[in-house]
Amino acid sequence: MTDVLKLIQQRQSTRVAYDPDRPVAEEDLRQIVEAARWAPTAHNMQNFDIIVVDDKRVLEKIGNIKSQVSEAFIRENYEQLSFSEEELLRKKVGILGSVFPPDWRDATRLDKAVRESRPTPLKQRINGSPVLLIVVYDARKRAPASEGDVLGFISLGCIMENMWLMAQSLGLSVHVLSVFAADAVEKEAKQILSIPEYMKIAYAFRMGHPVSKPAKHLRVRRNLEMFTYHNRFGNKGLG
Ligand SMILES: Cc1cc2nc3c(=O)[nH]c(=O)nc-3n(C[C@H](O)[C@H](O)[C@H](O)COP(=O)(O)O)c2cc1C
Repeated sequence: MTDVLKLIQQRQSTRVAYDPDRPVAEEDLRQIVEAARWAPTAHNMQNFDIIVVDDKRVLEKIGNIKSQVSEAFIRENYEQLSFSEEELLRKKVGILGSVFPPDWRDATRLDKAVRESRPTPLKQRINGSPVLLIVVYDARKRAPASEGDVLGFISLGCIMENMWLMAQSLGLSVHVLSVFAADAVEKEAKQILSIPEYMKIAYAFRMGHPVSKPAKHLRVRRNLEMFTYHNRFGNKGLG
């Protein structure tokens, strides 16, 4: 049990460059996909498919897709930022602002950041990864009576966590790229990968081995008493 908790605590986003010449072993990929296979899904619908992309020519094509950070992202991202490690340690939620460009972390410069947002090729985010795992789902389906298919989306999250923990246990680095679900990127990626019209991209994993040891970054979580209640909402803690 402790081992599972340790693995969960150690899993993290690794946003540095990966070594394009250090492929992920086929056996490792098989185990990661096996972990996805056994994920819980609403009604056991298993409404997902995974496209493993490791052909350098296909990665190159995907890397040439341009994406532009949206106004909504820049403004809503700002709301989640802390401006010092002390602030992040105090808040215990959100992200350290220093990982973003200076204009994105200054309320008086957000308009400028939005105005100056330019399309950049996805290869900057793929950043050397030798393999991408692209998770897609059939948008024509929904879990029974699930408004907006919330249960289907939760299921896609279960798949994400299962794969991430498996990758972590194999010593592989992972970085989730939600940008693959953005309309413009999704459209081009679907074309390149021959994904049928009715399928949607949920997210992509970039995976691999970092080129250099990533610097330790501050990871925070709320204390248990901040989100658990005993017997009634508001009665903090586990009793
Ligand atoms: C549904 C989902 C989407 C995410 N999308 C992105 C993303 O597009 N880019 C990114 O850098 N991290 C993304 N993340 C990673 C989160 O930012 C990260 O898990 C969170 O900040 C906690 O950090 P940790 O993974 O190191 O524990 C995503 C995570 C989830 C669960």
